Amino acid sequence: MVDIASLSQGASGSQAAWQAVEPCAFVLFGATGDLTRRKIIPALFSLKVQNLLPEPFAVVAFARKDKNDESFRAELREAVKEFAPHLPSEGSLWDDFAQHIYYLRATLDESEGYERLGDQLRSLDKHYGIPGNRVYYLATPPDNFSSIIQHLGEAGLNQPEQEGRWVRLVIEKPFGYDIDSARALNAELQAYFNEEQIYRIDHYLGKETVQNILVLRFANQIFEPLWNGRYIDNVQITVAETLGMEGRGNYFEKSGITRDMVQNHALQVLTLIAMEPPVDLKADAIRDEKVKVLKSIRPFTPEDVARWTVRGQYGAGKMDVHGKQEQVSGYRAEAGVDPRSETETFAAFRFEIENWRWAGVPFYVQAGKRMPRRVTEVQIQFKAIPEVLFARQNMAPIEANRLIIRIQPDEGASLEITCKAPGPRLDVLPVRMDFRYGSSFDTPLRDAYERLILDTVRGDASLFARNDEVEAAWKLITPVLEAWRDLSCPLFPNYAAGTWGPDAANSLLAGKCAWHFPQ
Ligand code: BG6
Repeated sequence: MVDIASLSQGASGSQAAWQAVEPCAFVLFGATGDLTRRKIIPALFSLKVQNLLPEPFAVVAFARKDKNDESFRAELREAVKEFAPHLPSEGSLWDDFAQHIYYLRATLDESEGYERLGDQLRSLDKHYGIPGNRVYYLATPPDNFSSIIQHLGEAGLNQPEQEGRWVRLVIEKPFGYDIDSARALNAELQAYFNEEQIYRIDHYLGKETVQNILVLRFANQIFEPLWNGRYIDNVQITVAETLGMEGRGNYFEKSGITRDMVQNHALQVLTLIAMEPPVDLKADAIRDEKVKVLKSIRPFTPEDVARWTVRGQYGAGKMDVHGKQEQVSGYRAEAGVDPRSETETFAAFRFEIENWRWAGVPFYVQAGKRMPRRVTEVQIQFKAIPEVLFARQNMAPIEANRLIIRIQPDEGASLEITCKAPGPRLDVLPVRMDFRYGSSFDTPLRDAYERLILDTVRGDASLFARNDEVEAAWKLITPVLEAWRDLSCPLFPNYAAGTWGPDAANSLLAGKCAWHFPQ
């Protein structure tokens, strides 16, 4: 069984790697927001239940709303019941966890609150015997990032008070809006924090199946020799969701699917599929290789954008909602959305990686909201066999091999190969060799946030994006966003909710292959 600890640590892979967590205080900005309730607190509590949190450990929730320790803890218990019902939210484990959470009522843009934060942290250090280690988690809307970073810096909370202690800062996505804003944010961060202190979240990297891409590629002899343009015809990455806006229309209007899912999650998956073997498994070695991939992708000219990208927006349609066919409204009718909005809820791209391994192999990426299924998959389409032997017989064409990496749901991978069908005739058919996490391992797959939070506490940045990586991704995507602004917008809506996107997405494939629509 794969010990992922060894992958990210470059260590021996022993359980000891998991235990190497030092006591710290965890400061949560944006503590009354959705992310805290849905992801961060359930993840912290789950780590506590698994005995993976350091001892001692304390959480300071920094937020503006009028609450106190008791009322806030009670709300969090309800959140755990709702979003992590499998966890024991009644009983001594929760009580003990909750007792270590403190609510600090303060405003993000006033220095006074940060002074009180400093005092509170010092008193918690004393009370629990925490040696001054800190994680600051920025789970606020991005408009607040600058202010928090600056105030932490000015209050002197950005660096450890003693040698040998550490201070880390976790920053949520979206990291910037385009290349200029991403650079500006990096500069603001670097004015107060060193790169080693900064953990930029892309929660896709915390998914087991995304981490498994490296293991699949580099811990098996059989794939790597074939992993290039000599044997692979094309690669497809699909990130499809059934969800519409779920009350996030305001945010999405400014973002669109390209900023929301492609610049980060889809490109992260693409770099892991395309990268060269790293020199070791440490954070920087992996990130160096990922950056090289991003830099090798052919930059989009306005002509390329017209030819190799497709935008879509969903209209009303019928789709499966919790097992029932329901009529859902179009994007323009969602709350917070302009009724004439030109924001894309679907995007497809053809990327070309201009290096020796991948020259001539198109990487197709599609991402969309309100698609028929929630599914993230990578399809490695191998080349067809030469037109000899079986292919020359008078039989149905032999399908080329495919490797499908299922990121979610039904996590696993399958390899499609050709076999002889039983019987007196020579009939050949494609069959699947299948690996499923669900049936191969007893351990349940944990939420990505658990792994990422644990890694910030352990000081392992392998699963976080580095500054140059984020900027390289924006450098690639920004010209597309700019060209879309200048090109006339397609007639939106151009796909119905519950379908696999606009017909125009097929034109990207130029008749060479077909989109793989996950089953
Ligand atoms: C987030 C996006 O980063 O990822 C959301 O902002 C999206 O719009 C979500 O729904 C998808 O995450 P997952 O883990 O459900 O695939």
